[in-house]
Amino acid sequence: MVVAFAATLSLQLQASAQASSASTSGRPWAPLRPAAVRQQVSPASGRRQRAAGRRMSAAVQAVAAEPAVAANGATARVATVQRQTKETSVKVTINLDGTGKCHSKTQIPFLDHMMDQLASHGLFDVTVEAEGDTWIDDHHTNEDIALALGTALSQALGDRKGIHRFGDFTAPLDEALIHVVLDLSGRPHLSCGLELPTERIGSYETQLVEHFFQSLANTSGMTLHIRQLAGKNSHHIVEATFKAFARALRHACETDPRRAGTIASSKGVLTQQ
Ligand SMILES: *[C@@H]1O[C@H](CO)[C@@H](O)[C@H](O)[C@H]1NC(C)=O
Repeated sequence: MVVAFAATLSLQLQASAQASSASTSGRPWAPLRPAAVRQQVSPASGRRQRAAGRRMSAAVQAVAAEPAVAANGATARVATVQRQTKETSVKVTINLDGTGKCHSKTQIPFLDHMMDQLASHGLFDVTVEAEGDTWIDDHHTNEDIALALGTALSQALGDRKGIHRFGDFTAPLDEALIHVVLDLSGRPHLSCGLELPTERIGSYETQLVEHFFQSLANTSGMTLHIRQLAGKNSHHIVEATFKAFARALRHACETDPRRAGTIASSKGVLTQQ
């Protein structure tokens, strides 16, 4: 159990308890009454999440705990998103201008390892704290982490002014070679061409990799193509995918000095409409 997360949740659970005498059964992912959780997600991403055909209503909260201004006076590109359903409770923070620090406690060891790849190769600071119904399987937790991460990414990017927008990287890991191309277009799309030879990596089901990227693409408003150029070992293939994804995303999020703060679109908008 992650202490900071427990503290945040206990505040919400207290609010919930005041609103209702219904038992929360003491579990952090116990359902909260909708009234107890402020719905602060933007209308556009709210619509996107409903369009994403969620299994059940989710309370998604953007936590404005981070300073809006970075040390150098620029707007900090940091967002924290908390996502709560009857199945999971997830909190994700991403700082796009980080140094590669990662704190990931997802209950899914292989996914923690992948979050490390995302942070260290993307030079993002990433915090993921999740409690989910992993006694069933990792499906809900995997999906909800990716949905929250995508929402946080979109919020940290703001209006997407001045960024490169496109990113492209090919990463090897021994025999595996993975090509990732992405566009922070505001248009969610995934084409995933991974061929994973085993059903699991450790306890992690390999079919969850595509689902992770689909969920992330949906809420971040990213067009994402993943191609496997070579690879025989599932662990190598997936790790190379996250490395390539991290490097491609890092470039796409970074400032293009020649843009001079304008939006890299002839249409003038990159956010999800
Ligand atoms: C992603 O969005 C598409 C199109 O709205 C939807 O069909 C799909 O179920 C969504 N997938 C996830 C994992 O959210």
